Amino acid sequence: MATVVRTVRDAVAGATAALEAAGCDTPRLDAEVLIADALGVERAALHTDPDASLTPEAHAGVTERVRRRAMREPVAYIVGRRGFRGLELAVDPRVLIPRPETELLVEVWLELRAGSRVHDAGTGSGAVALAIADERPDLRVTASDASRAAVEVARANARRLGLPVEIALARGLPREARDADLVVANLPYVSEGEWPGLPPEIVDHEPREALVAGVDGLDAIRALVAEAPHGKRVALEHAPHQAAAVRSLLGDARTLRDLAGLERVTVGGVP
Ligand SMILES: C[S@@+](CC[C@H](N)C(=O)[O-])C[C@H]1O[C@@H](n2cnc3c(N)ncnc32)[C@H](O)[C@@H]1O
Repeated sequence: MATVVRTVRDAVAGATAALEAAGCDTPRLDAEVLIADALGVERAALHTDPDASLTPEAHAGVTERVRRRAMREPVAYIVGRRGFRGLELAVDPRVLIPRPETELLVEVWLELRAGSRVHDAGTGSGAVALAIADERPDLRVTASDASRAAVEVARANARRLGLPVEIALARGLPREARDADLVVANLPYVSEGEWPGLPPEIVDHEPREALVAGVDGLDAIRALVAEAPHGKRVALEHAPHQAAAVRSLLGDARTLRDLAGLERVTVGGVP
């Protein structure tokens, strides 16, 4: 007979056990985030009032969220949002969930002089462009993506957050972005061969075209560099093992390391 969940404490224990059994890496954290979302409270409230009773509706909401997570759907898609820098972005399966390592690009945009123009190519949810616009209102920020669905998500995020970023539908670098002082890009960089070995959260739920770029994963990056004007300054996110290859595409290149000490973003000029 199924256990009857009566309190927050029971719900957290039951969800944690179910998610652990499903192979989730952080079952307790995921359980708490999903339950807090279903109850419409902050996660901390689960700890301050663990004996609170669940209404039948709240219980149904928890059950549905835990069912989806047990199918290895990412928490961010289930709750429909993800934090990036100081922003809360709406995300859904049409866009990549922004990753913490992408925040490293901040080191590049913080160096720009007031009035500079920066373009974010492959903007996805709009994460990078919107964070720049939020943190550096003195810059002019534009963005683009090859996916129509991603452009819709990014534009909706820009509207909701009230950030003045124009977002175009374009593969590579749009013509109107070629006079930007800096192009930032977290384009796909997973190789065809790596894709099947990635976790189910990625392979079964995130858009393949947001992640995979050819045999060595560098097709989209190479194409962007090939069409950018000579001398254009670019900052490109990549996998650590691709750092030397990306540096070889650029002049005067340097690579920044992420918090784990891995080579993650290469900055340089287009030859
Ligand atoms: C790895 S995701 C990154 C999304 C976002 N920049 C972020 O960091 O969360 C790559 C994005 O680039 C887009 N994309 C893929 N190939 C592209 C190309 N050749 N030109 C422009 N955008 C591309 C995908 O649709 C996807 O939204």
